Amino acid sequence: MSDHQTFLLDLYHEAVQCFQDLSAVFEQTPQLLTLSKRQQIDICLEKVQHLIQIEEANPSYDKHNREIVSVLPLLYTQLQQLKYNHNFTQITSCATSTSIKTSQKAKEEKDLRDSIKKTQITPRIQGFEDIAGLFFVKKILATLVLLPIRQPQLYANQKISNSILLYGPPGTGKTQLVHALAAEASACLFSVAPSNILSCYIGQSEKLIHTLFKIVKEKRDHTTILFMDEIDGLCRRRSGDEAEWSRRLKTELLCQLTALEDCPNIFLICATNCPWDLDPAFYRRFQKRIYIPLPSRPDRFDLLKLFTKNTSLETTSNEWGPLLSKTEGYSGSDLADLVRHAFNIPLTELIDNKSWVVVNDNLYQPASVNHSFTSLIQCDVQELPPKSVQARNIQFTDLMAAANAVKKTISDADIKRYEMFENII
Ligand SMILES: Nc1ncnc2c1ncn2[C@@H]1O[C@H](COP(=O)(O)OP(=O)(O)OP(=O)(O)O)[C@@H](O)[C@H]1O
Ligand SMILES: [Mg+2]
Repeated sequence: MSDHQTFLLDLYHEAVQCFQDLSAVFEQTPQLLTLSKRQQIDICLEKVQHLIQIEEANPSYDKHNREIVSVLPLLYTQLQQLKYNHNFTQITSCATSTSIKTSQKAKEEKDLRDSIKKTQITPRIQGFEDIAGLFFVKKILATLVLLPIRQPQLYANQKISNSILLYGPPGTGKTQLVHALAAEASACLFSVAPSNILSCYIGQSEKLIHTLFKIVKEKRDHTTILFMDEIDGLCRRRSGDEAEWSRRLKTELLCQLTALEDCPNIFLICATNCPWDLDPAFYRRFQKRIYIPLPSRPDRFDLLKLFTKNTSLETTSNEWGPLLSKTEGYSGSDLADLVRHAFNIPLTELIDNKSWVVVNDNLYQPASVNHSFTSLIQCDVQELPPKSVQARNIQFTDLMAAANAVKKTISDADIKRYEMFENII
């Protein structure tokens, strides 16, 4: 506690003591405003006024002090009313307003907890088998998170690294990895984005951070993963003209991170696309920082196989080769877009099709040149019965056409920047 905080606290206690003495005097002789009572009111008023002045000249950012400061104007008004109206009910109403304040605080606390509880989610995938490629990352995460949970004796003589930073270009699977890890660990998953924390109300963001870590720590008996996405949105490098609220937010976050080091069941995983924007103090806190790169050629093969796993495309086909060369520099999410685009090609063809044949189970398929003219049905797709149309299977030509239409979203210059950053740190 700083000297200023101690001073403020002492002064506040003096004022409260004075106020309590005053209440006791009024309780004994409620009707009489004696000279001694008037003097006591004045002393108390003076103390409260002094506190207000100090606070105005040098605002306090300590949470406890801010609570104190927030009740001062009310206390001051109550004392003045008491002095000029001489009515002891004013003191009682002051007590009532204190209890209103207490219930307001409880409500505020509940609102904070409710908004944080919304960030607790179920992993959207089953586990590492839903992550294509990235074998080295899965291995690191298994060593850092899964092994200590299942074989804690291995870590008896060393501290568990429970803060991890994943950084890299967009769409490379950082968020997917965290979901997979949470599923593998059967962990309780909190997924927090800056929008869950940043608030336009003064002091609210720190309160949200505080509540977040409080709730997470309450789960300490169960493996918990706290995933903070786009962490650069909360912890940018400090700059000279940085806003006060941003400094306070970072300080609160840094304190909470330090406290988390002693909670082996809680794993903090943060993700960012801009590691160079992170505050160095914050960056250093991560015990493990992992670069998630664009998928390599074998990883692109794994990704495309995963995204087309329920199709008739042969995994052994030599048509993969040109596709893998063509998709050099694509991210996992670019490849997901590409496959989505390819799946749409047979569907788009249905819209223009006018000739149909009936196949097994009374389903309609677009006719091809091999079908005999007599078996053809001529109509638009809209005229066919609901749920009766079958599209043709997706082919490599569709994937190639999609690769021409869907461009990569990350430039070579962007990748260079990540690589340079990796070499510097
Ligand atoms: N290795 C992967 N395995 C499976 N799917 C992946 C992989 N990489 C990317 N994807 C696909 O790309 C999409 C985006 O992935 P994700 O959201 O995990 O990327 P990210 O790295 O978190 O991106 P951002 O940095 O923009 O948040 C996923 O929904 C998934 O379809
Ligand atoms: Mg993400």
